[in-house]
Amino acid sequence: MADTIGHTPVLLGETLRWLDPQPGQTIIDATAGRGGHSVAIAERVGPAGLVIGFDLDAGNLEYAGARVREAGGRFEGVHASFAQLASSMVARGWRADGLLADLGISSSQLDDPARGFSFMSDGPLDMRLDTSKGRTAAELLAVLSERELADLIFEYGEDPFARKIARKLTHARAVRPIGTTALLAQLVKDAYGSRARASRLHPATRTFMALRIAVNDELAALDALLDMIRRQAASDEAGWLSPSARIVMISFHSLEDRRVKQTFAELHRAERVRRLTTKPVTASESEVRHNPRARSAKLRAIEMRASRMDPE
Ligand SMILES: C[S@@+](CC[C@H](N)C(=O)[O-])C[C@H]1O[C@@H](n2cnc3c(N)ncnc32)[C@H](O)[C@@H]1O
Repeated sequence: MADTIGHTPVLLGETLRWLDPQPGQTIIDATAGRGGHSVAIAERVGPAGLVIGFDLDAGNLEYAGARVREAGGRFEGVHASFAQLASSMVARGWRADGLLADLGISSSQLDDPARGFSFMSDGPLDMRLDTSKGRTAAELLAVLSERELADLIFEYGEDPFARKIARKLTHARAVRPIGTTALLAQLVKDAYGSRARASRLHPATRTFMALRIAVNDELAALDALLDMIRRQAASDEAGWLSPSARIVMISFHSLEDRRVKQTFAELHRAERVRRLTTKPVTASESEVRHNPRARSAKLRAIEMRASRMDPE
């Protein structure tokens, strides 16, 4: 079922505006997903250009590649984390003129009960973006101490009831493993107790997000990507990014956006990049109406300085 599900790309017009892909260019889509952004980029770079797509999810990557090729574009897929982006590019002798990272998960992943990302439908508690390796959320829940669980839910989910939830989960798992999304959602709701009614979000929202971030080591991957960008910007030699490459990043929660914002500000202060957006670009009311996922999206963009000494 999941292979027919699409994904509405967020901030598509704004992404094209700031990435500004030109005919013949090579652009990296670090999170190819269902190919929404990739197809639009491929149309801009044309048949002489190339989209290099990365994704941890082999199904998504294949789907994105097929869509780009169907639209007449050229696509090279790399089934790897964007944490390995620079080494993968260098190993293949590739250089890009732009980079997009649209962080998080796609609707196809969220809506497929078998992937275990959603508390809206029951399924195995998996949550791995790359289903070929790594620990599932159920395995993680089984091995972390109560303290570690509480810290994880507090830090990554920013849930004020993290300690209560962790206590509930550790008591419950002593009786039977927490192996399904429905059971986890119910346990978190129970931990909230009467406060669940007052909560605007489903009480399990933050716990699910925290587990997903932990299972996929999402913040470490983002830090690795930002570090590669930092090193490339600091170098006077063109490496995997061409000298005036543009970089667009879209994040969906404050833990991600803070990292992107700080890195871009630091590079701007060091006069290594030109900041294209000083404030984050957000979705219009009409986009949010059509695609509620766009509500929390924040886009930031920079351009590498061709000559690092250029005045702005
Ligand atoms: C929000 S979706 C991208 C949607 C895409 N822009 C589109 O329009 O269809 C994010 C994608 O990034 C992938 N992803 C998340 N973390 C990743 C990582 N560290 N490395 C590579 N891909 C990752 C997910 O598997 C998912 O397919």
